[in-house]
Amino acid sequence: MPPRSFRDRYRSIFQTKPVSKLMECTGGVHGLKKVLSPFELTLLGIGAIIGTGIFVITGIVAADYSGPALVVSFIISGTVCAFAALSYAEFAAMVPVAGSAYTYGYASLGEVWAWIIGWDLILEYSVSIAAVAVGWSGYMTSLLAGAGITLPAPLINPPGLDGGIVNLPAILIIFVVTGLLILGVKESARVNTVIVLIKVTVILLFLFLAFSHINPANWTPFMPFGWSGVLTGAAIVFFAYIGFDAVSTAAEEVKDPQRTLPIGIIGSLVVSTILYIAVTTVLTGIVPYSLFKNTAAPVAFALGEIGISWGSALVSVGAICGITSVLIVLLFGQTRIFFAMSRDGLLPAVFRELHPVYRTPVKVTLLVGVVTALLASLLPLQTIAELVNIGTLAAFIIVSLGVIVLRRTKPDLERPFRCPFVPLVPALCIVSCSALIFMLPTVTHLRFIIWLAIGLVIYFLYSMHHSRINDDTTGLECWAPPGNH
Ligand code: ALA
Repeated sequence: MPPRSFRDRYRSIFQTKPVSKLMECTGGVHGLKKVLSPFELTLLGIGAIIGTGIFVITGIVAADYSGPALVVSFIISGTVCAFAALSYAEFAAMVPVAGSAYTYGYASLGEVWAWIIGWDLILEYSVSIAAVAVGWSGYMTSLLAGAGITLPAPLINPPGLDGGIVNLPAILIIFVVTGLLILGVKESARVNTVIVLIKVTVILLFLFLAFSHINPANWTPFMPFGWSGVLTGAAIVFFAYIGFDAVSTAAEEVKDPQRTLPIGIIGSLVVSTILYIAVTTVLTGIVPYSLFKNTAAPVAFALGEIGISWGSALVSVGAICGITSVLIVLLFGQTRIFFAMSRDGLLPAVFRELHPVYRTPVKVTLLVGVVTALLASLLPLQTIAELVNIGTLAAFIIVSLGVIVLRRTKPDLERPFRCPFVPLVPALCIVSCSALIFMLPTVTHLRFIIWLAIGLVIYFLYSMHHSRINDDTTGLECWAPPGNH
């Protein structure tokens, strides 16, 4: 092949990948087993969504930003996610391929955009894993404390926080989950169903036990930090909704994807939102918001405060189970994004290498494990959560933009699910996500810009030269994710 001119190369960075080519990888002998029903997929979504956000971050946000108006922050964030979910559902039904927003970017906006979104998803997933592990550590520490075992402060906090040196439980849980994934223990639909049932039961138990202890006086003043506090709170609790987008990474494993994916994405978001509204209303009703200041386990803490310590311990156990399932799904999701990007040549082949015996991506899983453990051990939860949110909000903006663009450029593509009121709904998503990004601290913006700049340097130095978009064999060399053989 003659060497390509600079202009050809430049043009190809905006080349889109046809939906038919994207779909080539989903069938054949290497195709994944299509086993998940709409119900199971919805449960998978709830498994990925409900975790550290509701069980941990609610405390910090209520005390520092939203006050009793925590529920309003949750409603605002949930509405933004609903707009994004409709765009995700349109794409997922049209291009049911693992790789989620990265793949949608490739289909609609072009390679360099796909790279940006993929790079952004790497940030979202890695940093979420770290944040969720820190949440896990908080609940484990509080459960052990309840049993009379107090872990030394330097070993449960990051440097600079309460005399901390390293968050050891967070490192441990990441290594345990990494080990499980390397061995190929896959989260089967049945195991996930059990975990989700435990998690939802614990939440319902909390509501049941706490309801009669609500003291409406705790709801005044309702917005002690004003609207600005409520909106910043919304930008932070946005973390609690992350995960419905991970439903779309299971695209190649569902029955009848055109119907199942929209149900799974939208269904899991609706159920989680309803539970969040109920929990935050009751939580701020039973304990004055200022008491949540330094709690790493606010739901369990609140039950303890109203004298139900057995309920508090039970909630902690349920939260630990639930948070672990989020961790497993996120770690899986991360390896799949790497796979999809490596399959397209944008990342080196090592990112799609499978271990000959375990048939799992050992190297990449270890890499993710080590990096996320480092993040989790050294950074406080709020800093990590803010970074995750900006990454995810940016991904939602690009996906919504993709829906608008593809409706214009490829109006004839079959769309089994159509986002209503295009371009209004995607435009509302773009505007509201931008507003939430704006509400995040400037230092988070700077960190995000640095991350994107590093990504673009890698793209122009490596990925664009190794892209396989014009390579005829791309579709033949499909990947097979772990544990599905
Ligand atoms: N939404 C997930 C959680 O709250 C990331 O843990």
